[in-house]
Amino acid sequence: MTRFRRGVSYDATMNERPYDPDRDRPAVQRVWKECGWISDDAQHPAFDTMLSAGTARVVDMHGEAECLVTTHGGQVRYLHDDLPFSLVSAVTTGRVGRKQGIAGRLTARAVAADAANGAAVSGLGMFEQGFYDQLGFGSGPYEHLLLFDPGDLRLPAGVTARAPRRLTAADGPAMHANRRIRRRGHGGCNMDDPEVTQAEVAWEKDGFGLGYYDDGNTLTHHFWSEPGGEHGPYRIRWLCGRTTADLMELLALLRAQGDQIRQVRMEEPPGLQLQDLIQRPIRRQVTTRGAPLGQQLRFLAWWQMRINDLPACLAATRLRTASSLRFNLELTDPIAERLPANAPWRGIGGSYVATLGAASGVDPGHDDALPTLRTTVNTFSRLWLGSAPASGLAATAGLDGPPELIESLEEALREIPVPHPDWEF
Ligand SMILES: CC(C)(COP(=O)(O)OP(=O)(O)OC[C@H]1O[C@@H](n2cnc3c(N)ncnc32)[C@H](O)[C@@H]1OP(=O)(O)O)[C@@H](O)C(=O)NCCC(=O)NCCS
Repeated sequence: MTRFRRGVSYDATMNERPYDPDRDRPAVQRVWKECGWISDDAQHPAFDTMLSAGTARVVDMHGEAECLVTTHGGQVRYLHDDLPFSLVSAVTTGRVGRKQGIAGRLTARAVAADAANGAAVSGLGMFEQGFYDQLGFGSGPYEHLLLFDPGDLRLPAGVTARAPRRLTAADGPAMHANRRIRRRGHGGCNMDDPEVTQAEVAWEKDGFGLGYYDDGNTLTHHFWSEPGGEHGPYRIRWLCGRTTADLMELLALLRAQGDQIRQVRMEEPPGLQLQDLIQRPIRRQVTTRGAPLGQQLRFLAWWQMRINDLPACLAATRLRTASSLRFNLELTDPIAERLPANAPWRGIGGSYVATLGAASGVDPGHDDALPTLRTTVNTFSRLWLGSAPASGLAATAGLDGPPELIESLEEALREIPVPHPDWEF
């Protein structure tokens, strides 16, 4: 199963209810203005599109929606499998409702509802590290953002770009479909609802896309960008293709803008080391240091994920190793503190016997003959996903167990690639 069922329960004890566009639009737009997310009417079509898909829930204060949490369904690739995924796509509280614990509890309920409906993994883009840790989320690895002069791209001989097609909001459904069939590696996410892409396209008034349709009128590869001034920067929101050859043609297309545009900003596509393709990258970084359109490599761990369904997640962990590693897993899950006692799902805290190997899994219980790993779902999710190695998590994130077990975990999970969602959220 790669999709989770829709079906939502709401908690009346905290004035939680579904978002109703006719009733709540003004109040939620006021909150988004207070948050600095929207400024004027031009963005309202994107606002409505964004809230028309997925699940949006609000909490009232003084009779008006003061906090909003939205989730969207999709998939996350784990090694070779797609697991049902829920994205926490927006969390906002207005100025009146801050620090009442509303956003934390409403987000916990949104995650719990999607988990109860089959979302094996939840994920989000964080405004800061720490807040969502309280709900069991753990940080991913660094993502690289490159700022470079497209004229400095040095592509292998023979890589050229044909004249592309201009893409506009009318191509939104085709762009969404193209994103979903793009080359996707470990950790790669797909969102189900086309409105997610449609809203992104509508968000930036002068956004533009360039891409290629095949003879069957299927968009095969394209990018979508926010425009800069006369000389850039172009901020590439996504760049996707089905093959590396598609990606190389898109890079050639960016290079073709290099006579005028002095800077492109883009996240490194998984599997390509973009610096390989930039002429004398270290020299350019030194000579353009401090310049507004200079060359830079920035990195940040900006997303977090958490395991919601431990058996489903470990079933996808099919390692090439001949032997299996067995251990007790004592997991704590902080999300339970923010959920009512009768919630349909209360996190995955508990005692398990875990196996990692060609066939991995968990059974509830404890075996005195096995070593014990004690940790939070936050840290275990990072370990499982391949975001950080066991020894590092033992040093910085409370992965607690005998040194031999930590070493064996590091060895057993060495083959898990570094995860990249390759979908900005
Ligand atoms: C982030 C936001 C949703 C929080 O709303 P809220 O309803 O005030 O949140 P809660 O009351 O549930 O939680 C606040 C608590 O989290 C804590 N917290 C906030 N950031 C934290 C962090 N980085 N690490 C640890 N704790 C943090 C606060 O200290 C507070 O705890 P306290 O009440 O014990 O002092 C709100 O500030 C907001 O709308 N910001 C603008 C929009 C935004 O950035 N949204 C997040 C998108 S990812």
